[in-house]
Amino acid sequence: MWVSELELHHFRNHSHTTLALPAGVSVFVGSNGQGKTNLIEAIGYLAYQSSHRVAQDRTLVQEGQDTAVVRARVNHADRHAEVAAEISLRGANRAKLAGNTVSMGELSGWVKAVLFTPEDLSLIRGEPAGRRRYLDSTMTVLRPATAAILGDYERVVKQRNALLKTHRGRPTPELESTLRGWDDAFVDLAGAYTTARVQLLRQLSPAVTAAYATVAPGNDVSLGLESTAMTDEGLLAEDLEGHYRSELDRQRRAEWERGMTLVGPHRDDLALVLNGLPSRTHSSQGEAWSLALGLRMAQAVLYREESTSGDPIMILDDVFAELDRSRRATLEALVADYEQVLVTAAVWEDVPQAFSGQVFDVANGEVAPRGQ
Ligand SMILES: Nc1ncnc2c1ncn2[C@@H]1O[C@H](COP(=O)(O)OP(=O)(O)O)[C@@H](O)[C@H]1O
Ligand SMILES: [Mg+2]
Repeated sequence: MWVSELELHHFRNHSHTTLALPAGVSVFVGSNGQGKTNLIEAIGYLAYQSSHRVAQDRTLVQEGQDTAVVRARVNHADRHAEVAAEISLRGANRAKLAGNTVSMGELSGWVKAVLFTPEDLSLIRGEPAGRRRYLDSTMTVLRPATAAILGDYERVVKQRNALLKTHRGRPTPELESTLRGWDDAFVDLAGAYTTARVQLLRQLSPAVTAAYATVAPGNDVSLGLESTAMTDEGLLAEDLEGHYRSELDRQRRAEWERGMTLVGPHRDDLALVLNGLPSRTHSSQGEAWSLALGLRMAQAVLYREESTSGDPIMILDDVFAELDRSRRATLEALVADYEQVLVTAAVWEDVPQAFSGQVFDVANGEVAPRGQ
């Protein structure tokens, strides 16, 4: 797939940006703070309905405004569509397809993108939350139906947490019984969520291994789920609901004391093991970068395989300055045959020659095609 028209309205520092984009490579050049990442963040928002940089949508709305709009014309092999997202400080966000209101999640069916960004290094070395986000976003793209499980699970955890926090340290029999009311839903959803994650990992592991082998041949990389639901032998507990029920019982006191849900997939982690060592704590800078590239390439390969709408849009945001020569070359080769590749860089000299395409200059929230 590829985006042929992009429009940003009050999105970060883009007051009003309208662009015609070609298929193939586009390069966005501009010094720091001009709005390059903001531009690709907007496309990422259409694909994932969230920013790759911030948890809160409100920061996406231009200072002093109350609604940001991202609109795109998306082209698939034999169809095209106008999609839009409206991010609103007051009231709910809205998604549109051909002018009609649709659910936010439907946008993912029309816009698929893989983002390579400097923040990817923290996928490897940072907190578990980043790796959970990676797993969850990949999962909802590959299996849109799982979005409902994730959403429901999040809601139940929020409700349990609110109850535990408000009455922290002083549960009454009544409160205990209200909490038990949430437990049934919790146990169901935690089981379904964990099952979906394990299925995803089965698909993801070989893809990451293969991608890593291209970036850094001759290494052994493995992916695993770190979860109370996994046995010491690395097997998934047979009775997941039973497992979560007994975990809840075991943590009951601690949950009331700490005022939060201490059990479940929202606390799990993706274990990335490189040559027998956990990469979070043991990887070198170069290994961490290779692994980060491997995780992103695996998304691209799987999205492509599963997609009925063509390739995902490949977005490389300011990554060339971070990568050494051989990793640059690998990345170039990997993205070369995707339908659309969007590249940003502070200086033109940082962009490998292989990425010759339409150049756009980005300055102060405005974007202009070069040479026109
Ligand atoms: N909500 C917002 N409203 C207005 N300006 C914003 C908003 N969020 C970020 N900016 C501005 O956007 C600029 C950063 O743009 P960015 O796309 O990250 O730069 P770069 O070109 O280096 O990638 C900063 O100068 C920041 O002040
Ligand atoms: Mg940037």
